[in-house]
Amino acid sequence: MPSGWTPESWKAKLEAQQVVYRDREAVDRACAKLCSLPPLVTSWEIERLKKEIAEAQEGKRFILQGGDCAETLADCRPEVITNKLKILLQMSLVLIHGLQKPVTRIGRISGQYAKPRSNAVESREIDGQAVELPSYFGDLVNESDFSPLSREPNPHLMVRAYQHAAMTLNFIRSLAEGGFADLHHPEYWDLSFFQHASLSEQRRADYARMSQTLSDGLRFMEALGERTVEDMTRVEFFTSHEGLNLLYESAQTRRVPRREGYYNLTTHLPWIGERTRALDGAHVEFFRGIANPVGIKIGPTATGEHVLQLLDVLNPANEPGRIVLISRLGAGKAAAILPEVLGRVTEAGKRVLWMCDPMHGNGTTTSTGIKTRNFDSIATELEEVLECHRAAGTCLGGVHFELTGDDVTECVGGAAGVNEGDLSMNYASLCDPRLNYQQALELAFLLASFTKS
Ligand code: PEP
Ligand code: CO
Repeated sequence: MPSGWTPESWKAKLEAQQVVYRDREAVDRACAKLCSLPPLVTSWEIERLKKEIAEAQEGKRFILQGGDCAETLADCRPEVITNKLKILLQMSLVLIHGLQKPVTRIGRISGQYAKPRSNAVESREIDGQAVELPSYFGDLVNESDFSPLSREPNPHLMVRAYQHAAMTLNFIRSLAEGGFADLHHPEYWDLSFFQHASLSEQRRADYARMSQTLSDGLRFMEALGERTVEDMTRVEFFTSHEGLNLLYESAQTRRVPRREGYYNLTTHLPWIGERTRALDGAHVEFFRGIANPVGIKIGPTATGEHVLQLLDVLNPANEPGRIVLISRLGAGKAAAILPEVLGRVTEAGKRVLWMCDPMHGNGTTTSTGIKTRNFDSIATELEEVLECHRAAGTCLGGVHFELTGDDVTECVGGAAGVNEGDLSMNYASLCDPRLNYQQALELAFLLASFTKS
């Protein structure tokens, strides 16, 4: 255990994005309840993920991470969960085929309920009057409706979030255990949108070839009679979320029999966000003591020096599988920022998994005020980051997307041809825009083709 650390030592530090609860007794009651409830995940699953991350650090495996920006309690519904699992599974098959490596699937799910905000308050004009209320910080903290009651941080939501995470995870575990028998049926792969005119002939032909070999491969495996598609898709599935609300995270952080250290048992891979990675802040203090693998978002202001300092605090023993560095720099910026960070970390001999989040550096707002992201910018950042890794001799070991398995219209572009005018058709995200089913699948095909060339 690092010296001076306890599951609550973060309380003595400055907490970025701190939630201010008015009713301290209700906070204590909620935390005591969370402490008494069973864990959501287990230490052996966490250790297995750590091992897989260590393999990915050596280039022997690839990690696909995806899910909502702001998971909602209302979306704890079977279709939504099944669709998310299916898209991640389909993307992973495309990547296994393209990269010729095993792929680990991690869902930003069962706990992605707390959101950092750039402004603690939100102002709106209502009946000609300016009204200011606390911002929406995710369903774990308050509710999204713009009313004083909904926006008041409510400690009991931590318990409700835990319960919804447990229900979600229960269903995921059953689905993953049962396998997806219909994956080799062509109609299951909704690829008709690849016929859309906005795709170059070359790309269309590439994608058609890839999906053909992929389904041939699945059929071949099944024809051998040794394993059915159901067997092959009976997969292990891990979860992640931003460990933003430290009351929630630390209430489920505990020792387990026959292992050293403390595990955060709300999720397998908690991550530190771009706004919470201050060296002397509460989040880094909390994360330094837990035994889970830890993700760290690396935005445009990060330098190699800062990253090395973070690594000294968070992984002093240079343990394999412990650190996932998630760059989120923006198209056109990665090439100016990433090489210095890659160089410093590599020179220092630090073991990390390099992952690319091509979503968070590419947010834009339309002229009518809708938050969106352009498919092309996302693809461009991915390509740029791959190029930086090639030049540095390092390995891109994973990707981190905001996506859903549903037919939303939140990001523009892609072969499916969502344009700005379509955004209001089905914009469901309460925070950042997500790739829809078709855009997510196309991105997997694109990534597979980038890594082949
Ligand atoms: C997120 O992943 O939803 C997020 C807020 O990311 P970042 O911390 O990179 O801005
Ligand atoms: Co987001």
